[in-house]
Amino acid sequence: MRTVAIVPTFDGWQAAARALLREGIAPGEVRWSETAPGEAPTDVVHGAGAPGAARVPRQFLDLARQAAGGRDPARWQVLYEVLWRLVNENRGLLGETHHPMVRRLNALAAAGRRDAFRTETEALTLEPEGAGAAPFVPAGAGLAELGAAAARCTGCDLYRHATQTVFGRGPADARIVLVGEQPGDQEDLKGAPFVGPAGEVLDRALAEVGLGRERLYVTNAVKHFKFVERGKRRIHQTPRLGELAACRPWMEAEIAAIKPEVLVCLGATAARAIFGPDFRLLRDRGRFSPTRWTEKTIATLHPSAVLRGEDPTQQARLYGTLVADLTLVAGA
Ligand code: URA
Ligand code: SF4
Repeated sequence: MRTVAIVPTFDGWQAAARALLREGIAPGEVRWSETAPGEAPTDVVHGAGAPGAARVPRQFLDLARQAAGGRDPARWQVLYEVLWRLVNENRGLLGETHHPMVRRLNALAAAGRRDAFRTETEALTLEPEGAGAAPFVPAGAGLAELGAAAARCTGCDLYRHATQTVFGRGPADARIVLVGEQPGDQEDLKGAPFVGPAGEVLDRALAEVGLGRERLYVTNAVKHFKFVERGKRRIHQTPRLGELAACRPWMEAEIAAIKPEVLVCLGATAARAIFGPDFRLLRDRGRFSPTRWTEKTIATLHPSAVLRGEDPTQQARLYGTLVADLTLVAGA
């Protein structure tokens, strides 16, 4: 019996499963366990992702991804069992809808979809601080009308000290929407998102993967700059969950107006606003998961995180991660 400890995500399972398949280790010989966050997974993944990975039906990968998002600890074992059979016994297995393994897989995928939905709902039901933006949002409005209405929002206290509302920018037919945290100092003064130092990093990374900013819609989870004054400088402060909840109706209205194919969260705050408070950026970034807005929702590092890297080496590594994740976006 071999015990395999994985990071409990689809990618973590897939890397281990590929290695086990290559070594010909049958499902009955594997015990799956989940590593705690920060703990290293079992080093079973010699050359994971190397060429020669077995080809499996797309439908399996979709179901496996959904099942991976659930909470049932048995899901890794079931996934490997189905994978094993698909590769070694019957490529058409998924068509046998009454087969017990196929039923279990479908049930796990359904549970995973429910769990993903539940986490999102938790985000939705957070109490806003203050009245929240909802009373200010014109129903069914297009982007221009929304932007004009947002300029008058007093749904939470953040409007009091900021210069202006910084609404999203970009074409109404954008296929990709990027969500940041909140405007920074420059954005607050200029009234547009990502036009300061973080915006420069973002533009460089987007250009590197062949995405033009002019084709994207870029916005923030919170529309007013939150800061403390230190002498002449205004230092960014991370918005609280209650402030995210207060401002959320604007983001909801923007996404509803655009209906993007791909939704990208820049940083942990945006990711919590989209995926719910359980989202952990370092564990969950860099892969597409379904949300009620689009199948292709993904989180990556915030461009400011690159700037906060301790030295040039770390900055380069963080930038590389941002570019790698945006490469997925460009290819979607
Ligand atoms: N950081 C953000 O999250 N958004 C901006 O618009 C600028 C910096
Ligand atoms: Fe309204 Fe959002 Fe500004 Fe609060 S931060 S006042 S909810 S626009």
